[in-house]
Amino acid sequence: MTVSRRKFIAGAGATFLISQIKANAFAEALKHTGLKDYYAKDFKIGTAIGSDILEKNDQQLSALVAREFNSITPENCLKWESVRTAEEGWNFKDGDKFVEFGVKNAMYTVGHTLAWHSQIPDSVFKNDKGNYISAEQLKKKMDHHISTLVGRYKGKIMAWDAVNEAIDDGAGNPMRKSHYFNILGEDFISHAFNVAHETDPDAHLIYNDYNIEQAGKHEAAIALLKRLQKKEVPINGVGIQAHLSISGPSIEQIEKSILNFAKLGLRVHLTELDIDVLPQVWNLPIAEVSTRFEYTSARDPYKNGLPKEIEDKLAKRWESLFEMLIRNRAHIERVTTWGVSDDVSWLNDFPIKGRTDYPLLFDRKRAPHDAYARLINLKK
Ligand code: XIL
Repeated sequence: MTVSRRKFIAGAGATFLISQIKANAFAEALKHTGLKDYYAKDFKIGTAIGSDILEKNDQQLSALVAREFNSITPENCLKWESVRTAEEGWNFKDGDKFVEFGVKNAMYTVGHTLAWHSQIPDSVFKNDKGNYISAEQLKKKMDHHISTLVGRYKGKIMAWDAVNEAIDDGAGNPMRKSHYFNILGEDFISHAFNVAHETDPDAHLIYNDYNIEQAGKHEAAIALLKRLQKKEVPINGVGIQAHLSISGPSIEQIEKSILNFAKLGLRVHLTELDIDVLPQVWNLPIAEVSTRFEYTSARDPYKNGLPKEIEDKLAKRWESLFEMLIRNRAHIERVTTWGVSDDVSWLNDFPIKGRTDYPLLFDRKRAPHDAYARLINLKK
């Protein structure tokens, strides 16, 4: 501070100082009032943390996360292909950063994920000759992987998506024929839960999947969860990923599925919420992550901005979703959006690379969408 500025403050007297203190306190209060505070009595409000924070060190984004959210999930850094190195070793760099962020901000920190068919090299499941390894060998690999990860972050990661996306989308929704399943059958699921539970008995363990609020896959999920419960698998929660679109599925359908999962005695999490506004290129709002379609400009209609009527429609969709969630808060542990602001959403590149989507609560300038104000208003 320069001498003349110091003189000005001294000269302005007590009134100035008091109003300055008040202004500072107000600014401080504002800093700590985000969506998480408005929803403190309902459920936790989470977000996924990706490379923009962990690798690019985006300060604006991490400040926004600290202000608005009280739960975090790692978007990629704890998946097999990220946390393991080619030499069967480990790369904990981003995972440690992620967990430190959660600890520093006293957040409900979620791990993602311990057993998933995707973002894992085929070589995990095969021997040097290219044949599948045995059930015993795979169980051993799972033991090592899960006990190391869960053990390392014990007490800091409170919940794990223990198993991700084990149910297939095809007719009758059978179990997905992943390498895990082909080698171990459904036991891969119980094994993942059991090892995680033995390693950290306090961790809240979740079965996570997409479209399990939709007819067919929903019934398959209920049946799977019942089979696991019958075997006394230590499962505490179910994660509805909730990659929704602006037009579906209906709020009633999501509500019904929340109630059905709750009837099983499980806590319900919305684990990867986003609302896609772009034209759907398949009959489902989302399919498996390796699916890709070709880019055409007709499939990317809002690259120069979102028309007012679509912003309104989108805001209303968020509002009616949250109205329903508040109504069912007794069953809901957490609602997590898959990313913070539109610019970092995976949906800009999925299932078509290079589109401009608007699926989150904050826009490309990191300013709140109209939906945000509606969600706050629901709590006023
Ligand atoms: C996505 C990430 O957001 C992308 O960055 C990555 O390229 C692919 O995976 N279901 C899941 C998440 O469980 O792990 C996926 O995350 C989105 C679908």
